[in-house]
Amino acid sequence: MGCDNIKRTVLSSMKKRLLLLSFLCVVPLCLFNGWPIGFKGLTARDPSTFHKCSNSRNVTILLWYWPFRRPFSLKGDVCWDLYRIPHCRLVDQRSLFPSADVVVFHNGELVMKRQVLPLDLPRPQGQRWAWMSLEAPVYNGNLLQYANIFNMTITYRRDADITIPYGELLPREVEDHLVEEVPLNKSSLVCWVVSNYRSLHRRSQVYKELNAIVPVKVYGRWTKRRLSSKALLPTISRCYFYLAIENTVAKDYVTEKLWRNAFQGGAVPVVLGPSLDDYKAVAPPNSFIHVDEFASVKDLGKYLQDLAADKKRYSEYFTWKNQWKVKLYTDWRERLCKICSQYNSLPQEKVYTNLEAWVNANNT
Ligand SMILES: *[C@@H]1O[C@H](CO)[C@@H](O)[C@H](O)[C@H]1NC(C)=O
Ligand SMILES: *[C@@H]1O[C@H](CO)[C@@H](O)[C@H](O)[C@H]1NC(C)=O
Ligand SMILES: *[C@@H]1O[C@H](CO)[C@@H](O)[C@H](O)[C@H]1NC(C)=O
Repeated sequence: MGCDNIKRTVLSSMKKRLLLLSFLCVVPLCLFNGWPIGFKGLTARDPSTFHKCSNSRNVTILLWYWPFRRPFSLKGDVCWDLYRIPHCRLVDQRSLFPSADVVVFHNGELVMKRQVLPLDLPRPQGQRWAWMSLEAPVYNGNLLQYANIFNMTITYRRDADITIPYGELLPREVEDHLVEEVPLNKSSLVCWVVSNYRSLHRRSQVYKELNAIVPVKVYGRWTKRRLSSKALLPTISRCYFYLAIENTVAKDYVTEKLWRNAFQGGAVPVVLGPSLDDYKAVAPPNSFIHVDEFASVKDLGKYLQDLAADKKRYSEYFTWKNQWKVKLYTDWRERLCKICSQYNSLPQEKVYTNLEAWVNANNT
């Protein structure tokens, strides 16, 4: 039941009840902030349980410039209309700087020197500046110059102030009980899509070693077998296993190679990226195979062969789909609106005194 509805029915009655109701309506918003941290901590959180209570003030998020110079429409109450996140005013007009609660700067343009920070503008009291990046540390440029400037980080990392993963698993709701069949019409054992083969280091080593034991079918720009985006998932669905090898090994850096290519494609991911613990935090047991779980690539190859030959055991790698569904994040507006749903739990006062160190911390 929406709180606008409740409110209408009580408006005419006692003021006291209205007060209590507004309180009940706002408190869950404050408690419910943030997406759960560990995988075990995932709980059902239907965005429609957020209610639009008009008595709490809007948080204004100002995007200083659009990532990759690609603007999206901000017409209407975008965060509510698209994502059911209330009290969130997402704007991109710089003239609104004085009233902005959060000003967001996407790092890519700073690295390319296409944009600079408005360091000359007097910062209103309480305004937070947010540093946003979806890139692995090596592509974030020199951040030493940004000491003592930012109050928030918005990245794929679980320990960022706002975590914006490439994808995540959400609990299935009763109404979307449509259970996908275990895809078993397979013609390849292991597949890999790779667009650029340079600087592959450990990845190419694993591929070479694995390919010497079991056949690995390689697609992508690097090979003669290019794949259109339309053909990507159908092709992967014909593979027992998909090599979800990240381009860069960095803490929590798990991209659409896992969420879209493997999970949505319907192949069991063989992952090589951050540590096993990082993957365990975001994906359920028996949903992926981590290269580090094996003493050697030879052992891994043997395991994959045996698993593909055992239909029952293989299909167990898909049972997580009964409980979870894949959610991909691709729209910057959705990521920015998320700031509002967590705004109340941000620390009162925070400064990244050494952003460079934070970004490069705990890299695996
Ligand atoms: C909050 O922002 C929305 C979307 O911009 C707007 O429609 C609404 O009138 C604002 N409410 C308040 C109280 O400022
Ligand atoms: C299995 O894949 C083949 C292509 O190799 C296709 O012709 C066939 O229709 C598929 N069968 C099913 C049940 O999807
Ligand atoms: C944000 O960072 C600036 C610059 O270091 C600092 O002066 C300000 O107090 C911080 N604001 C918040 C809300 O943390």
